[in-house]
Amino acid sequence: MAPVVDVHTHIYPPAYVSLLRSRKDVPYMRTFPDNPSAGERLVILPSEDAATSTARGRPIGPEYYEEEEKIKFMDKHHIDISVISLANPWLDWCDKGEAAEAARMINDDVEAVCARHAGRLYAFGTLPLSAGAEAVVEEIKRLQALKYSRGVIIGTSGLGAGLDDPAMNPIWNALQETKQLVFLHPHYGLPASVYGDRANDYGHVLPLALGFPLETTIAITRAILSGVFDHYPNLEILLAHSGGTLPFLAGRIESCIAHDGHLKHAGKTEGRRSIWEILKSNIYLDAVVYAEPGLKAAIEASGMDRCMFGTDHPFFPPLEDEGDEWVSVKTNAEAVGKAFGTDEAAREAVMGGNAVRVLRLG
Ligand code: URA
Ligand code: ZN
Repeated sequence: MAPVVDVHTHIYPPAYVSLLRSRKDVPYMRTFPDNPSAGERLVILPSEDAATSTARGRPIGPEYYEEEEKIKFMDKHHIDISVISLANPWLDWCDKGEAAEAARMINDDVEAVCARHAGRLYAFGTLPLSAGAEAVVEEIKRLQALKYSRGVIIGTSGLGAGLDDPAMNPIWNALQETKQLVFLHPHYGLPASVYGDRANDYGHVLPLALGFPLETTIAITRAILSGVFDHYPNLEILLAHSGGTLPFLAGRIESCIAHDGHLKHAGKTEGRRSIWEILKSNIYLDAVVYAEPGLKAAIEASGMDRCMFGTDHPFFPPLEDEGDEWVSVKTNAEAVGKAFGTDEAAREAVMGGNAVRVLRLG
């Protein structure tokens, strides 16, 4: 039987936690004197920072930064291998002059965590994007030599101007050349105005359930429209949350391209690779969509050999009265089971076999 592999699972390693504890602006970690019983809070989204908001940050405990908690969680939920990644917002906010050193420290920290749990933990590295393309390429090359590193995690902002920015080209080139998988993950959501005046009444639901997946969809569509996969045909990207809404909207995006006079006159509709082709040869999708219809769309779009189970641990822990099994994990695993019915080989592939093959685990 193939091992169960979690490809979407985060950690804030000690080097990153010290950085967050030393900060006063988002992102930061601290306790609030006006609400000490809330314990230490993690504030990573600008919308979470409003002092009057009960949605200010989220409680943060050892499950976010202690490696033993990751292993305990894996054991409890029968996960054999995890490919851990730094959680958002990575180093996007870091001063230009400090980012390269911070990335090295964090990546070395995570490598040491993996080495202490050899065979159970691998990692996606962090890039010093605010330091510019040259520093990023240097870290990509350094990561290639780390024993447990299997790719990189990035947000949607790239070097500051998104993933369709030509300044990203040396980075795509280095990732393609070194065959490192890019895990594309959202953080910024949509502009706050979209959520309306009563957004805080709805906790984190609008930014997390909708802002995150739409952000991913827009970022990858911009990359596709700019020709990233035409120029780097072997580049491989794993999209968080089953591709946001890309599997569902790929047909509409293709249709809009086909009907766009501006693109046609600019000669951009000829000889391009379709989104369907890119979905089946450059894109992998995690299975973090919590229900069968979304997962089926992902499988239909990219293929059962390109979808991989994930949990998004340590986010979405059980609420106070729910016991200690993580409903978020169970829901994703059950969706995989339901999507494949009696096709046990396909279920095993998504639960871990695909990740072992694609990420050369074990
Ligand atoms: N919330 C986050 O900020 N990040 C995740 O990965 C999941 C939920
Ligand atoms: Zn995540």
